[in-house]
Amino acid sequence: MNRIITILLLCTAWLAGMAQNNVHEQSPADQYQWPTEPDVLNKLHQWQDLKFGILLHWGIYSVPGIVESWSICNESWITRDTTRTYEQYKDWYFGLADEFNPKSFDPTQWATVARQAGMKYMIFTTKHHDGFCMYDSHETDYTITRHAFKDDPRRDVLRHVLKAFGQQGFMLGTYFSKPDWHSQLYWWDVYPNRGRNTTYPIDRYPWRWEQFCQFTYRQIEEIMSGYGPIDILWLDGGWVCAENGQDIHMPLIAQMARNHQPGLIIVDRTIRGPYENYQTPERTIPDTQLNYPWESCIPLSDDWGWVPRPRWKSPARVVNTLAEVVAKGGNLVLGVGPTPEGLIQPEAVERLQAIGQWLDRNGRAIYGTVCTTHYHEGNLWFTAARDGSRRYAILTLPDDEPLPDTLSWSVNLPAKRVRLLSTGKTLKHTIADGRVTVRLPQGLPAAPLALEIE
Ligand code: GLC
Repeated sequence: MNRIITILLLCTAWLAGMAQNNVHEQSPADQYQWPTEPDVLNKLHQWQDLKFGILLHWGIYSVPGIVESWSICNESWITRDTTRTYEQYKDWYFGLADEFNPKSFDPTQWATVARQAGMKYMIFTTKHHDGFCMYDSHETDYTITRHAFKDDPRRDVLRHVLKAFGQQGFMLGTYFSKPDWHSQLYWWDVYPNRGRNTTYPIDRYPWRWEQFCQFTYRQIEEIMSGYGPIDILWLDGGWVCAENGQDIHMPLIAQMARNHQPGLIIVDRTIRGPYENYQTPERTIPDTQLNYPWESCIPLSDDWGWVPRPRWKSPARVVNTLAEVVAKGGNLVLGVGPTPEGLIQPEAVERLQAIGQWLDRNGRAIYGTVCTTHYHEGNLWFTAARDGSRRYAILTLPDDEPLPDTLSWSVNLPAKRVRLLSTGKTLKHTIADGRVTVRLPQGLPAAPLALEIE
């Protein structure tokens, strides 16, 4: 028994590390299609102003703290312990539903921490590829409302998560996986499973595929119609698409979803076209500024969900990333995985609060800003106030690097003055040979900082 547990733990740690290998490609940059509906455009612009959000992965995979869903998928980059057959492993994984009993579930804590971090919108996993619904679906029994947490009055966790974040003023988003590895309409056990796609050939069983499309449609409708206002529908699993022979009928889904949620932003990620209202580079930042809506999704640790031994990114690293993302015209959604008990753990809280403290003092250089043509020089990233009255320079400073005594740059030169944003103090500057040089005050912490340029 002990041996099995050790092997399982080892393989768990390995799989968690492997999560990184499975990243979604971004759609080709030149193929963004602006939505035409005015209310969608409107919401999209509102969303672009928010800049910083939280992406919460929470599900049965949180119980042992392993990679979300992927360990049951038969692809070459995945290994499992050899003491269990694939079928035994899958039974164990799906059976985690009977152990997932998050007694300390506290979405108000999540929302409070996210607000303290300076985040303005949220996305929550309503259903990941493993098919376990984190809401009260009536299309399947495989839901949190019908397993270990079923007797808890808060069993319909999606409702409570949206309520808690809604109360704290967040824009609300729902992550939903198009592929469903628990459904016999997608992974039909009659055929062996060889990877992320349907087990059966769709051209031979078109009726089965149609049933899956209807099932997906109805599940999305449950979320869109039963949980109050929702702003973003974030659809994962880009291999489920017409181009790949898995036409899920997006026009029908989109029309239904927007009937329930006027102006809804739809992110059919990696599927270029009218339903990818913003693009989602994963774990990366695009090389250059992009003039259409996009969002980098990056986890605070190496993993999307909770894992037992996370490798955290430092607050400075997140701030640096945010500065670069915003200067390039994007948003950052930071991944945080609540614990199996239902809380955001202290190590994450501490880091998120430190990010928020920086944003409290320097948020004017981030929120509601727009791109400026010269957006980068050295380790300075530039943004601009919407009315054009001022620009901001954010110095990204890697951990353990000291602050320089002076900063100097040659674009976005001040006409009047330069201020340290965190204190409002005007800093002495000189301009010579097309470069401005600013002397920084003594005693500032070695951390990223922002300047206001007028
Ligand atoms: C990747 C992972 C998926 C995760 C998503 C979050 O697509 O495969 O598991 O939910 O990233 O961005």
